[in-house]
Amino acid sequence: MNPMSICTTPSSSSSSSSSTKAWIFHGVAVGAAVAVAIGAHVYLISADPRTWERAKLASSLDHVVIATDDEKIADCCRGFGADVIMTSESCRNGKKYDIVVNIQGDEPLIEPEIIDGIVKALQAAPDAVFSTAVTSLKPEDALDPNRVKCVVDNRGYAIYFSRGLIPFNKSAKVNPQFPYLLHLGIQSYDSKFLKIYPELTPTPLQLEEDLEQLKVLENGYKMKVIKVNHEAHGVDAPEDVEKIERFMHERNLS
Ligand SMILES: *[C@@H]1O[C@H](CO)[C@@H](O)[C@H](O)[C@H]1NC(C)=O
Repeated sequence: MNPMSICTTPSSSSSSSSSTKAWIFHGVAVGAAVAVAIGAHVYLISADPRTWERAKLASSLDHVVIATDDEKIADCCRGFGADVIMTSESCRNGKKYDIVVNIQGDEPLIEPEIIDGIVKALQAAPDAVFSTAVTSLKPEDALDPNRVKCVVDNRGYAIYFSRGLIPFNKSAKVNPQFPYLLHLGIQSYDSKFLKIYPELTPTPLQLEEDLEQLKVLENGYKMKVIKVNHEAHGVDAPEDVEKIERFMHERNLS
């Protein structure tokens, strides 16, 4: 399979205002794993075959399904052998899953261990409705607004996400000693929360930063954050695809 055979459509980027992301479909993974022992259904939504391959290796997901609202993407994904459901359908059948995992199309190299990590973190934190992952921020990315930073409390719950550098050193310079955290494009949600989530109206901080996850915090919900080692290759611009291809080639991933 051609590793870059991502199913794309020019108008598929419904969740992103950035047109540069339109050629990679926003991937959403719908997962379920409440009763791990019973093996609840877990659904993955992503139109990227590599994301799909990796998600299938996550032990917390026992069934990986691609969900999309686009018929062309659906056909393409069936083409590489994936089970596909249409998102309208998956919303109606929300009760089938306990946990929903969402892998952003701009972070296609997420390791299966990270998927398992956020699913387990959510299961272990009954007061949280949402879980996500962060990794170390590279100093050169400190002032890049496309790299979203995160600060957490001492129990690993998110305090805030920002496109600006947080925390901000008093000297107004990047502190090379501080372990800044970079947010990765993967989330999992409690399926009950997923029914409420779309109904929540946009919030001021969410709108100001253009960060969807702030809506969760601004409404007072708790979000669990796990720290992982991950070489982040967020795709924010077309040239990033080339970088990812090179990286995958070097690591024999393609
Ligand atoms: C700011 O960064 C410097 C290193 O660049 C560090 O020594 C200092 O503790 C940090 N915090 C404050 C408040 O200056």
